[in-house]
Amino acid sequence: MNSTAVKSAFDVEEIRAQFPILKELVHGKPLVYFDNAATSQKPRRVIKAESSYYATINANVHRGVHTLSTKATEAQEAARETIRQHINAKHAHEVIFTSGTTASINLAANSLGQLLLKKGDEILVSGMEHHANIVPWQLVCERYGAVLKVIPITDSGEIEPQRCEGAKGNAEELFSDRTRILAISHVSNTLGTINPVKELIAEAKKRGIITLIDGAQAIAHLPVDVQDLGCDLYAFSGHKCYGPTGIGVLYGREELLERMPPWQGGGEMIDQVTFEKTTYAKLPFKFEAGTPHIAGIIGLGEAIRWMQDYDLSAMAKHELDLLEHATTQLLVIDGLRIIGTAKEKVGVISFVIDGPSTGSGHAIHHYDLGTLLDQQGIAVRTGHHCTQPLMERFGVSGTTRASFACFNTIAEVDAMVAGVKKAVKMLR
Ligand code: ALA
Repeated sequence: MNSTAVKSAFDVEEIRAQFPILKELVHGKPLVYFDNAATSQKPRRVIKAESSYYATINANVHRGVHTLSTKATEAQEAARETIRQHINAKHAHEVIFTSGTTASINLAANSLGQLLLKKGDEILVSGMEHHANIVPWQLVCERYGAVLKVIPITDSGEIEPQRCEGAKGNAEELFSDRTRILAISHVSNTLGTINPVKELIAEAKKRGIITLIDGAQAIAHLPVDVQDLGCDLYAFSGHKCYGPTGIGVLYGREELLERMPPWQGGGEMIDQVTFEKTTYAKLPFKFEAGTPHIAGIIGLGEAIRWMQDYDLSAMAKHELDLLEHATTQLLVIDGLRIIGTAKEKVGVISFVIDGPSTGSGHAIHHYDLGTLLDQQGIAVRTGHHCTQPLMERFGVSGTTRASFACFNTIAEVDAMVAGVKKAVKMLR
């Protein structure tokens, strides 16, 4: 934890003051930013950390004896240690820097594929996965003749409960004796559902199955303790948790990472290179070929330190208050249907607007709604949210999604609800 004391009272205005972008006008209206699941905004401290690396210590890391290189290396490794501590990894070398969650999952899929996949082996994902936790596995399945299996989800957007109660004897339905890898999201980007990952990991572990958790949507909203979860691998991005884009993490349990072959080759990941044979560097460098995104790493470390200055449970509660208010207010709108009504959710609300229950009028397309909300300065995401199989499961082509961060307010939710009502009047 940062040496600064944790700020006890949650003061949203104090938080908002730290985000320069929130003063921007969009179409002449104050920005209401509800697209945090796509990328969160950045506090001034993060912007400054990244720019002062370039302004004062820009140099390559782990490569020089000169002062700037030493300082850049120290700043990068301090960020690694901050992240280790934040996710409670045992060792800093279990924290591998990548360009984001997608790169982390691709690294894991390619390396694990080479390590253990044989024809007929199975990889298990859930029906609510982001394409980034589907396609890399499909690619390796094709290469090794493995099979992708999907855990079905309920109408509320949860993993079939009876299939999660492994401890009660139903896990057999979920796993087969060919299951080698379980790859599942901690939180759904589209539905907001918090998955029972700890229980699933425990069941997988009993069967010797490797577990990867896609934590892209969890890291900004939930405490993540990789040792408590018991996962083998955990992936997340910096830009979803108030940090820069282009930087992410793959946490891996030391013993597994030692066995996994490198994925990409290049500088920094080697021990000795000859034309006959190359031996590889120790962890984490074995998986970090090429010059890393040093500024991004430093920015991510600062973003985590910034979050740690707050009571994270107070932040989470604030976001759940926003979710509850938005849910109640939006459901008043005739024809509005929420996609994703799990009991355990983070502050993400996806909805569609069907035709009215009585009288004339038709359904409203999410792009039309998103465009009209943008005219009012309100940023939401529209479309399939990189979860096409999930859209198919719910029989919709896309949704409008509002995703909240700690700097959002109830007044902003009211502005969105008013905006949706206005759009409905115009478009129906
Ligand atoms: N995965 C990001 C989202 O859900 C881009 O919007």
